[in-house]
Amino acid sequence: MALGKYSRVDGRKSTNYISSITFVVFVALCLLGVWIMTSSSSSSIVPLKNVLDSETEVKQSTQVSETNVVVDTPTQSNVNTDNQSKQFEDNPGDLPEDATKGDITTTESPVDSDGKKSDESKATNEAQSQTPEEKKEVFPSGAQSELSNETVTQDASWATQAAESNKETTGSLESDTKTGYSWKICNVTAGPDYIPCLDNLQAIRSLRSTKHYEHRERHCPEDPPTCLVSLPEGYQRSIEWPTSREKIWYHNVPHTKLAEIKGHQNWVKVDGEYLTFPGGGTQFKHGALHYIDFIQQIVPDIAWGKRSRVILDVGCGVASFGGFLFDRDVLTMSFAPKDEHEAQVQFALERGIPALSAVMGTKRLPFPGRVFDIVHCARCRVPWHIEGGKLLLELNRMLRPGGFFVWSATPVYQKLAEDVEIWEAMKKLTKALCWELMSISKDRVNKVGVAIYQKPSSNECYETRSEMEPPLCKEFDDPNAAWNVPLQACIHKVPVGASERGSQWPEQWPARAEKPPYWLSSSQVGVYGKAAPEDFTADYEHWKRVVTKSYISGMGINWSTVRNVMDMRAVYGGFAAALRDMNVWVMNVVNIDAPDTLPIIFERGLFGIYHDWCQSFSTYPRTYDLLHADHIFSKIKQKCNFEAFVAEVDRILRPEGHLLVRDKAESISELENMFKSMHWEVRMTYTRDSEGLLCVKKSMWRPNEVVTIPYAIA
Ligand SMILES: *[C@@H]1O[C@H](CO)[C@@H](O)[C@H](O)[C@H]1NC(C)=O
Ligand SMILES: *[C@@H]1O[C@H](CO)[C@@H](O)[C@H](O)[C@H]1NC(C)=O
Ligand SMILES: *[C@@H]1O[C@H](CO)[C@@H](O)[C@H](O)[C@H]1NC(C)=O
Ligand SMILES: *[C@@H]1O[C@H](CO)[C@@H](O)[C@H](O)[C@H]1NC(C)=O
Repeated sequence: MALGKYSRVDGRKSTNYISSITFVVFVALCLLGVWIMTSSSSSSIVPLKNVLDSETEVKQSTQVSETNVVVDTPTQSNVNTDNQSKQFEDNPGDLPEDATKGDITTTESPVDSDGKKSDESKATNEAQSQTPEEKKEVFPSGAQSELSNETVTQDASWATQAAESNKETTGSLESDTKTGYSWKICNVTAGPDYIPCLDNLQAIRSLRSTKHYEHRERHCPEDPPTCLVSLPEGYQRSIEWPTSREKIWYHNVPHTKLAEIKGHQNWVKVDGEYLTFPGGGTQFKHGALHYIDFIQQIVPDIAWGKRSRVILDVGCGVASFGGFLFDRDVLTMSFAPKDEHEAQVQFALERGIPALSAVMGTKRLPFPGRVFDIVHCARCRVPWHIEGGKLLLELNRMLRPGGFFVWSATPVYQKLAEDVEIWEAMKKLTKALCWELMSISKDRVNKVGVAIYQKPSSNECYETRSEMEPPLCKEFDDPNAAWNVPLQACIHKVPVGASERGSQWPEQWPARAEKPPYWLSSSQVGVYGKAAPEDFTADYEHWKRVVTKSYISGMGINWSTVRNVMDMRAVYGGFAAALRDMNVWVMNVVNIDAPDTLPIIFERGLFGIYHDWCQSFSTYPRTYDLLHADHIFSKIKQKCNFEAFVAEVDRILRPEGHLLVRDKAESISELENMFKSMHWEVRMTYTRDSEGLLCVKKSMWRPNEVVTIPYAIA
């Protein structure tokens, strides 16, 4: 496996380092996340918007597109009083129950939200019919040219424009919010690469053990930082996809040593002002695509892009595998531990490839059970076989019944004593897990051997094992519980009831993106109050409408420069599904106190992650080109340090990236002020009744003042 530090660096002396790390369990990975916050606002529909295209120099009137934006509001659950960690320990499980729960507890104003919801289409029509006037109100004459002047981002008229819209559409919405924010740069040892929950050096110093890579796990500071992360010198806008898969700006990922050290290894090279990734990156000397096709050749059932759509890549290096799987219509969540010597995950992200800083240490990875179609591990040095197979059992938890584990590592094809020993141990363990060895073959071009195993889709084998080792998990152990849950060396049975998730393989991609999963039942209440399958479909229709009518053409965003998006509160993943024909990947985040809809997102062939937005996300600064924040700011405001959350949003968004906010009107105006104080450009703002929409663009600005964060100083 690739333990960050060991894997690539040790490529050279790999044969003897396996033994030296057997005591260390660790896995690298890259992945993405999704989350959902419970939403507390009442639903409503905002018709709307218009917008100008300021990015381009040309602003003709045609660019003022009028669109209808429906602001959906999910159920209310202001009942965030639940103890989060507790809630996660006995994770309520899949969406349905949760959603139902949410519904019951929430509805502060049931009439409001329900009424509006069910009237969605009507309201939309109304909105449409009103548009001519709306347009006039929102874009008084003269405003347009100013709006489109890129240099005028701070222009008062833009602000005035917003204020006007507010006034006209919502009556008086006096902003009593703070206007004087004084942002400071974080003085931290990690500098421009600061990840607050992974660079809490004080917490790391006080760990009693790092045997299981505890020092690469999350240790979130009690008081999350409210400072802004510095920008590497010479930083510039990332190269566009797909060129970025082959080369990135050297100054954007200031790891000069890495490139020096590894220059000869054929996976990254310094080439003038670029870093290039010859041959597709580290594992594949002769092309990742060859390797990818080879895998399908030896086990045709894998059917990339059809049966196999969402995969997990463990110890991903610079995520070339995931980067090339896009060409086969496959979405790859790659992860690796944060490692200061070789920031592989950062390289991957800068290349525009999905990746996450995470480690297989002592806790479950933040994904539901049985969601990945395939788990892959190349040059994999994870000691899967030790400690009762704990780590392999974690993969087993996340793997869909009938899914494959693709393992290409030296024990598969080398005959050194330690390889043979590991192979024997794996043979025993995979047999105990009832995994069937489908193929073991050698890709002669890339000179790697691959073993492919299949997880069973029934429980017969488990029950007829000669030894009950590893044991089956306790009945009450929920495989979907994944937030701060310790790893256990036990096997979850596979679901067999026809209506249970996991008992059938999802539809082929892309059909699975659109259809409500077979296991959503009409007797379950969805997040928005309808029967779950209907709710799912309504959500999808809603986002398709918003995306085509508003986001694509109405925000002044040049989508051809957008490589990745984070939906900060994803619910069913409808927004991501609506973007699926575009050349972007979407990290869907489901907040830990929101109804657990993440399995639905995976079922439809998208991916995501659990997260707690009161903490920092496990990604490098400047990771996402676009953030979508649907009713998340107002929720966070009620329960976490709001300034810290805004600083986190700044941290993960790339300079010149966009943030789209839909939220309560009062949050919109407060946010507008906050973002202006960070010198972001307000591209569009619109409110109507109690709901609003805001589009802002981050700039390269950084404050001059500095604040030292003691817990992040080495
Ligand atoms: C959008 O970006 C692409 C790539 O940078 C560029 O070629 C194109 O002209 C841009 N489109 C507009 C409308 O600015
Ligand atoms: C929530 O959990 C934390 C730690 O697990 C505990 O200290 C706190 O008292 C709990 N709060 C509630 C409301 O149960
Ligand atoms: C655009 O901004 C620049 C600099 O602020 C200003 O000089 C120019 O007049 C503006 N152009 C328009 C059309 O507003
Ligand atoms: C940053 O923190 C270090 C360590 O505390 C300190 O020595 C240094 O002076 C600080 N830098 C600034 C600009 O405050």
